[in-house]
Formats: sequence, structure tokens, C-alpha cells
Amino acid sequence: MTTLLLGQTLAFAADPFATPPADAARHDARGAVAVDAGRITDTGTADDLRARHPQAQVIDHGDALILPGFVDAHVHYPQTAIIASWGKRLIDWLNTYTFPEEARFGDPDHAREIAERYLDLVLANGTTSVSSYCTIHPESVDAIFDAADARGMAVWAGKTCMDRNAPDDLRDTAQLAHDDSAALLAKWHGKGRASYVITARFAPTSTPEQLSALGALWAEHPDCLMQTHLSEQTDEIAWVGDLFPDARDYLDVYEAHGLLGDRAVYGHSIHLEPRERDRLAEVGAALVHCPTSNTFIGSGLFDMGLSGLMRVGLATDTGGGSSFSMLRTMAAAYEVAQLRGTALHPAQLLWLATEGSARALHAGDIGRLGPGNMADLVVLDLASTPAIAQRNARAGDIWEAVFPTIVMGDDRAVAETYVAGRPMKTGRP
Ligand code: GUN
Ligand code: ZN
Repeated sequence: MTTLLLGQTLAFAADPFATPPADAARHDARGAVAVDAGRITDTGTADDLRARHPQAQVIDHGDALILPGFVDAHVHYPQTAIIASWGKRLIDWLNTYTFPEEARFGDPDHAREIAERYLDLVLANGTTSVSSYCTIHPESVDAIFDAADARGMAVWAGKTCMDRNAPDDLRDTAQLAHDDSAALLAKWHGKGRASYVITARFAPTSTPEQLSALGALWAEHPDCLMQTHLSEQTDEIAWVGDLFPDARDYLDVYEAHGLLGDRAVYGHSIHLEPRERDRLAEVGAALVHCPTSNTFIGSGLFDMGLSGLMRVGLATDTGGGSSFSMLRTMAAAYEVAQLRGTALHPAQLLWLATEGSARALHAGDIGRLGPGNMADLVVLDLASTPAIAQRNARAGDIWEAVFPTIVMGDDRAVAETYVAGRPMKTGRP
């Protein structure tokens, strides 16, 4: 049974960092997406698709804009309840707010409650996939994959390993990190839409032995992603230098322990040395820009010019980041780029939040509005508040029409979120 979703559509045909951004996408003011068995089977104008699919059920979203669902490439779902915590920079913020909350995730009931709350919040914001850090506890991994499975969502996640510089109740060992991660990987990777991600929190909270144990596990499972943090704050980088005196730089710590490769995904990566940039590009690793986090915890300004050299995704970094919304995150990416002297085009922002993040995660069938992709979609009301509506009324083209929603929009702009063709916002009880 085919369903036709009607509305405005934007489908990227090219990377807007590699081509003139305004030409990178096809816009249909009266477009349509055909969905069958959870996948997109056809796209084009509403007239063409109605003619090609005369029997289809039609859902008309009017002037709303249908896009691929947002892909949030770096989040910490266990930090949901401590988002917007005041007054600290990274290391103090971890010790004061993050670690006490993460310590609670050994309780499976707490883990389940937060995992469900988190996924419902992101769906309300138009996000259909995330890559999440969990906590040290295997229960926290089960909780997010169970909650994702119940919603039909493609989620990437992994146990966040730490065996030093963390409280007693949040430390494992090199052996446990390996064995727990291996067991969770065997349990979840490739089950339904779940993907296991080998996850070292960051170099300061792992001994060299633990990093090596995770590197060895990754070598056994090269189809998995490996996620960690890289060069977020300058005092963190100095600390890494003290802890690993033989390393050439921060990235070298990961490389020396088998944690560098084309399926590596490094959050933040703000203060990179030229050698690190060259090496990341050479290897084909991915970086994830987390702009609301970088301004909120005072980390610095990511260099978006790197997206010409390697995969770059976009992310909220909940709860170091200050929002669950990828609209707000695109606005922050715009502002951060402005502070570096570059104006990101709306096409670039939308691409980062969809296909760019999907590419960073090596996801084959999400992030694109084209046949064969999963029908994970967001439908944006481009006039969701009086302030946005009055600006949108002056728009001369689709980019001017969508930019006010990127800059000022929130979950009120999300008219619907579809996961595998199922409406998850208005359609759910
Ligand atoms: N570096 C290590 N752990 C974290 C975390 O939980 N959040 C952020 N923003 N940076 C980190
Ligand atoms: Zn993070």
C-alpha cells in the first residue's frame, strides 16, 4: 500500500560544500514523497506522483516542507535531565553535573525512563536518528536500543568506557570495557535498526590499556563505528599531553591505541593541529560539530572549512549542548561560522543536519529524500510562530522561506515526524 505525502520538498543532488549551495538541491513547491513498507519509493512533483500512483492514500501537508528526518550525530542521552546546568566548563561540568547523573544508570528503571523521555523529545523536534553515548552500565545500552526499537528508529549507541579519572561507581577496567562492549555488540549490532558503536569517552578517562582493549575490539569488528571526543577544550588538550607524554598530539593517542580509522567519529575536534587535520583527512575519519555545546560550555569555534576535506556531521551534544533541536543547532552552526567570518548557506545547514550527519555515521539509507531511503522524515511548518510567519511572508525563494525557521524555529515548527513511514508526533497516542 503506497502513501503519498504532499508538501514542499527539498532533495539534495549534491554536497552543498562542494557545489554552489543553492544549486545542490531540487525544490518542488508542490512536491510529493511516495512511501511503501517504510521506505521512500518515489519522489517528484505532486502531479507526477499522483499520476504514477493513482491508488495511493494521500496525506497533504499543504505548504509545509518535507525533508529527511534530522540525524543528530553526537548525543549523550543519559544527560537529558541535566541539560542547561549552570556555570561550568568541561572538566568541572563533567564532575559536577554529568558523572553524578550518569552514576544512576545502573538502575534499569531509571535508564529506561530517561531513554524513552529522550527519544520522545527528539522525535518532537524532528530528529529520527541519533548516535548516543550511554554510560558505563550495560543496562543503559539496553535501555536506549529497546526504546529505539519500540519506536522503529535507527539508533547508534555504545557503552561509554572509563577506567580512570572518574568516580568509583563510574569506572570499569580494560578487560570489562572490552568484554561488556563485545557482549553488547553481539547482542545489538545489526538487530533491527540498531548499530553498536565502540565508545571510549575520551583519552583522559581511559588508561592506555583500556584504549588498546577497545582498539583490539574494533579491529575484530571493523564494520562498527568508533566514537569518542577530540580536542574540545584547551585545558583538556593540555591534560591529555600530561597523561600521554609520548604522544605527538591528542589524535596520536587514539591512533597509537588502534582508535583511528575511516569509521572513527570524533566529537568536537575544535582545536586541531595541522598534523591532526592532515591525518584525519588522510584516513577519512569523521568529525562532528556540536555548536550549542561549544558555545554553552565555552569550548571554541569549530572550523567548518574542514567539511571540504572530510566528513563532518552536526549534533546537539545533549546535555553539554543546550537544546534537543537540530533547528536550534543549525542556527548555532550559522552563528559560530559567522564568528569565524563565513556565512553558511541554508542548504549547507540543512544538508549537515541530514545527509552530512548520515554520511558521518556511514548510514546507507537515511538522511536523503530519494527512492530506496527509509521514510524517516520531518515536516516543517515554515510559519510556525508570528515572528517566523511575518518574515517568511517576505521570502523570495525557498532558502529565504526556510531560513527564519532555522534561525527562530523550535519544536512548534515540526508539524510531523515520520519514522519508517509512521507518524510519530501527531499520530501517536
Ligand atoms: N568530553 C568527555 N565527555 C564529555 C561529555 O559528556 N560531554 C562533552 N561535551 N564533552 C565530553
Ligand atoms: Zn559529547
